[in-house]
Amino acid sequence: MERICDFLNKDQLMPTTSTGYRFTLQGDTYGLVQGELQIADPGPHEVLIKVHAASLNYRDLIHWRNKAGRPMEGVIPCSDGAGEVVAVGSKVTRIVPGSLVAGSFFQEWVNGPFEMKYHQQALGGSANGMLAQHVLLNEQGVVKIPAYLNGIEASTLPCAAVTAWAGLVERGGLHTGQTVLVLGTGGVSIFALQLAKAHGAKVIVTSSHDDKLVHAKELGADETVNYKTHPDWDKVVWELTHKQGVDHVVEVGGPGTLAKSLGSVKASGSVALIGVLTGFGPMGDSLFPLVAKNASIHGIYVGSREYFERMARFMEQHQMHPIIDKVFDFDHAQKAFEYQESGQHFGKVVIKM
Ligand SMILES: NC(=O)c1ccc[n+]([C@@H]2O[C@H](COP(=O)([O-])OP(=O)(O)OC[C@H]3O[C@@H](n4cnc5c(N)ncnc54)[C@H](OP(=O)(O)O)[C@@H]3O)[C@@H](O)[C@H]2O)c1
Repeated sequence: MERICDFLNKDQLMPTTSTGYRFTLQGDTYGLVQGELQIADPGPHEVLIKVHAASLNYRDLIHWRNKAGRPMEGVIPCSDGAGEVVAVGSKVTRIVPGSLVAGSFFQEWVNGPFEMKYHQQALGGSANGMLAQHVLLNEQGVVKIPAYLNGIEASTLPCAAVTAWAGLVERGGLHTGQTVLVLGTGGVSIFALQLAKAHGAKVIVTSSHDDKLVHAKELGADETVNYKTHPDWDKVVWELTHKQGVDHVVEVGGPGTLAKSLGSVKASGSVALIGVLTGFGPMGDSLFPLVAKNASIHGIYVGSREYFERMARFMEQHQMHPIIDKVFDFDHAQKAFEYQESGQHFGKVVIKM
């Protein structure tokens, strides 16, 4: 596990200690315990980041509630965070001090196809995450953030936004005039809505809350469906698409929604299989519609640093700003986790340092 430190430019008068949260087992679940972090100098290829903000993903709740199926004791939570580089190692060439950067979810997946070894360095999981005042990352594991975004906005990008981008653009080949279905109004789904609209696609959004559907319309959603009052939402989607189905489904629900997502996809369409909001149960019973429709399903696990960089360029071109629901203070991190768990949010929940 990498070092987390508070090493700062020795010419400046800087604090020598830093704080961060760690998961600490409390009964069956983890607590979020704030404490002092070790001080270390950046290694030759490392950059020290003064974190401005971290953002939450459903995955952080899985870890917090001890449902990941592996121990998280002592791990610094959160894959997602961004901040200013305040010191760099002697051989760093990609990044200069003063840059605003975000961590890349899989620290070692820079480009090319995914390899299983990349799981060994996933921020906020197999490696320490971003819920700390300072973090030390390899220069290859950070992405420079375009100047039009601030640290709070940048903190929302590494997991949810890159996942939506991977599913729709890198793997799905989204293009103008296509139709996209996004399930719910959480982090991944709202980024998918924004990215799809910026590509000139038509977007259908589902939600359990009518007020969230109104908000989705304000962001450009063309059609909306309340999946609580319309449990057969796939049939509604079918009618909305003149019995053709959608070109892309951003499938964040898992076992409880997959059959209806397959019912909603068009012939030759694409399903980005992303999430587990309805649990981790078997998903295999209902795959035949893919055959009948000559449709594709893509397993998506976030993306490479290059995906992130391409997405950041696209966002800058379109001046796209992340949709942030609430920002919590660092000392109230647990409140942020509780709020995310309540499902009241629309878009992203952020913790600022
Ligand atoms: N594979 C990957 O790389 C990857 C990356 C990121 C996330 N994920 C997964 O994707 C899922 C979403 O993550 P997130 O961080 O975006 O979550 P999130 O922000 O916590 O999203 C929560 C929202 O999902 C919606 N939702 C819950 N149950 C639903 C259902 N049965 N049908 C439709 N919508 C439902 C609700 O929206 P409404 O309130 O509008 O109903 C809820 O507010 C999670 O399972 C997460 O683990 C996977």
